[in-house]
Amino acid sequence: MEVKASSKSYPVYVGNNTIAQLPELIEKHALHKNVFIVVDENVLGYHLKKIKSLITERMRKVVVVEYVANEKSKNNKSVEEFYDCLIKNEFGRDTLIIAIGGGITGDIAGYVASTFSRGVQFIQVPTTLLAAVDSSVGGKTGINYGKTKNLIGTFYQPEFVLVDTSFLKTLKEEEIVCGLGEIIKYAYLGDDKLYLTFRSELKQIMKLSPKPTTKMIETCINMKASVVQADEMEGGLRKILNLGHTFAHAIEVEQDHKIKHGQAVIIGLVCALYLSHFKGIMKDEKLVKYISLPLFLQDKITLDKCNVENIYKVMLRDKKGRDGKTKFVLLSEPGIL
Ligand SMILES: NC(=O)c1ccc[n+]([C@@H]2O[C@H](COP(=O)([O-])OP(=O)(O)OC[C@H]3O[C@@H](n4cnc5c(N)ncnc54)[C@H](O)[C@@H]3O)[C@@H](O)[C@H]2O)c1
Repeated sequence: MEVKASSKSYPVYVGNNTIAQLPELIEKHALHKNVFIVVDENVLGYHLKKIKSLITERMRKVVVVEYVANEKSKNNKSVEEFYDCLIKNEFGRDTLIIAIGGGITGDIAGYVASTFSRGVQFIQVPTTLLAAVDSSVGGKTGINYGKTKNLIGTFYQPEFVLVDTSFLKTLKEEEIVCGLGEIIKYAYLGDDKLYLTFRSELKQIMKLSPKPTTKMIETCINMKASVVQADEMEGGLRKILNLGHTFAHAIEVEQDHKIKHGQAVIIGLVCALYLSHFKGIMKDEKLVKYISLPLFLQDKITLDKCNVENIYKVMLRDKKGRDGKTKFVLLSEPGIL
């Protein structure tokens, strides 16, 4: 698959055990051989052998940094630690940064790649379902600042994205559910037919059945690629990818990140559907039909008692608010936003 963003076109490779091809792909793309690998600590724990096999004599210099990925460490302090490590190991402009991990690792490593030495080469290797279907593609990088999610960031496209579905096998169920959050978002961005396909395949994807999972990852990436192609810098159309996210980000902050991003997205999608109905945009029977997909996962999500006033205040502060107004993506049915 190819992402044709206006700043850069790049391929997305999807398959099982594709990680073994990484050294070869670095050569094929004529990328720098001074390699700085940022790897999620859990991925390193579960997949040490695979990560070790990446270090070959084809690379001039390799430094592997273990990163404890969570919303609290997705911050400026971690960014500074990455810069310090790059400087200490004498990395310069001819650096290739590889992020191996979930959305948090990809977002922060991408931010470091886009700012260190005014931008060095970058590769995304997503290891969560959420990162595979969404965050690794499209070039949004970022960190949290103060109480606002992803407030500081850049648009910075990778050289390529390498999805290796073998990483997904070690994910906890709650992380698969998080990926389903973004997958359901794509179901609403598609059409009724796609929504029904997603609904019928959900159980198989929860079990990570290889064929439907790979197909689902490809479908979501293709959808994201076509939106990014039309509007890389989120001037207009790309905002549809924020469906459910104004609620989700506010819930995450209000819950002090005790809820995971993907779980908050599922709640945010339910809120977006209810708001669409409340505003008269979505009819009664459509609400009943289309809310069934996120509600199917309700037993998998625990939400501590939350303060609605606080959620509202956080939403007003959200970066997508303009002129003191909070904006939401709403829909009448899948594909009609
Ligand atoms: N840049 C974008 O376009 C974009 C889009 C959507 C979400 N995001 C961001 O992505 C983040 C969420 O990403 P996420 O859900 O991947 O979270 P994450 O990166 O925190 O990963 C979730 C958990 O899974 C673990 N993990 C990762 N890979 C694993 C594996 N293969 N086996 C076992 N455990 C593994 C991690 O250590 C972590 O504990 C949020 O910060 C969100 O803002 C960014």
